[in-house]
Amino acid sequence: MNPNFSSTIKFIFLFLGKMEAQTSKVVLSLNAKEVDSLKDGVSFKKNPEDGRCYIIYKSSGGFKACKNQCKHQGGLFIKDIEDLDGRTVKCTKHNWKLNVSSMKYVNPPDSFLQDELEVEMLDDGGMQLVELSPIDPWLTDPRDPLELQEGEVKITYLTHACMELQLGQKRFLFDPWLMGPAFARGWWLLHEPPADCLDRLCAADLIYISHLHSDHLRPNGGRLPEKVDLMMSDFAGGASGFPMTFHGGKYSGELNTVQCCPGNIVERKPNTINRLFKFSFTASFAVINSSEAITDPPANAKIYKDSWEFDLYVDELNSAISSEIFKHESWIQFYYSWAGFQNYNLVVRMIETDDSFKPMSNGYDYLVDFLDLSFPSTRPDREHSYIEIKNRIGVMRYVVLHGGLWDDLYIGFQNRISRDPDTYHHKFWNHFQTQLPLHGPDWDQFLQQVPPIQETDALNYGLLNYCSIL
Ligand code: FES
Repeated sequence: MNPNFSSTIKFIFLFLGKMEAQTSKVVLSLNAKEVDSLKDGVSFKKNPEDGRCYIIYKSSGGFKACKNQCKHQGGLFIKDIEDLDGRTVKCTKHNWKLNVSSMKYVNPPDSFLQDELEVEMLDDGGMQLVELSPIDPWLTDPRDPLELQEGEVKITYLTHACMELQLGQKRFLFDPWLMGPAFARGWWLLHEPPADCLDRLCAADLIYISHLHSDHLRPNGGRLPEKVDLMMSDFAGGASGFPMTFHGGKYSGELNTVQCCPGNIVERKPNTINRLFKFSFTASFAVINSSEAITDPPANAKIYKDSWEFDLYVDELNSAISSEIFKHESWIQFYYSWAGFQNYNLVVRMIETDDSFKPMSNGYDYLVDFLDLSFPSTRPDREHSYIEIKNRIGVMRYVVLHGGLWDDLYIGFQNRISRDPDTYHHKFWNHFQTQLPLHGPDWDQFLQQVPPIQETDALNYGLLNYCSIL
């Protein structure tokens, strides 16, 4: 192995998790006259040199400022005409709202903080907005470029987002989803991975997981690499990255056994990380080495998958439907108590459906009031937010039975959601997507504490409408 290469690797890891001093950059300057003309409340300003936009909020307490860039997908804010206090701006893309006086997003409620810019008042009455950024560690003290040897760097596309990068003797593997579906029965691999994909996975020196979705990390039937370094980041663009990837903060250092990567380091709760590592990896990759191979694949290379073993996976999900626990209506209370989400003014109606999202006559249909974690038969009289969710019965019950995250339901296209008002409840979804307890509900204990099913009930099981909702 090229000795220079080995020191390059050491160099890379030397900086992992390292916190450097911040840099500062003036992104907007206003002269005294422009500062004087700022009205109380929200002002929008553009830097004439680079065209970038900023928001300044003026109050008796001074100034606050931020970039005019929505944390969701970078949309532009405008004044929110519904906000009579003049503190809120609204994104033109998907209507997120930001209260600029507190720099908190109000839609989604209880969610994110906007990154603030420093406001510096100058002696001459002018003002500067300053962006503080941590130094990018890979840019400090750069090395001289090194000559690459023939074959020293090799990238192999395996399937979906999974690639293998070989640097000399070191192998890096990215986002290993190689077998079976992701998001319950919602997503299936398009490209056939190479036959040795699991060998490649197990031979990896480092695995990078770009974000916490099941199309980037799947079980592989127990074939796992041992003592592998893991890198995780919170980067993910587009709707697929939301809301898992908006934890804010650019660097957060090292987490347990996780080797963090430079830039956009993940800030997961240990809970979530442990949940991830409960799963083994599954990966499937193909035979394509180099871009040339994509346009001119090796003879006999199978590029697209033509078999997915649907039944194997769908049957497993559907096996949850007949689980003993669903013979007892009190599973609902047990499950949501286990989930642990409450003190939030939201009422959710959950409806079990067939594959066409038609309610099933023998399925559950119930309300959960998350304010006090009660299960009323009708919506409460008080003002409240309301969501109605129709779920395919097999996936819903599988998720309940195994204490799974709810990504399987909605990213996997296994439900239909209506909401009133049309507000994204980040706190609710984030809880069911990332904050569920590490261990699933103790259904054995549940079955011990519920009264035995009467014969008549057993006969009716499968025919009852368990909870009637008006
Ligand atoms: S980009 Fe702002 S709401 Fe989506």
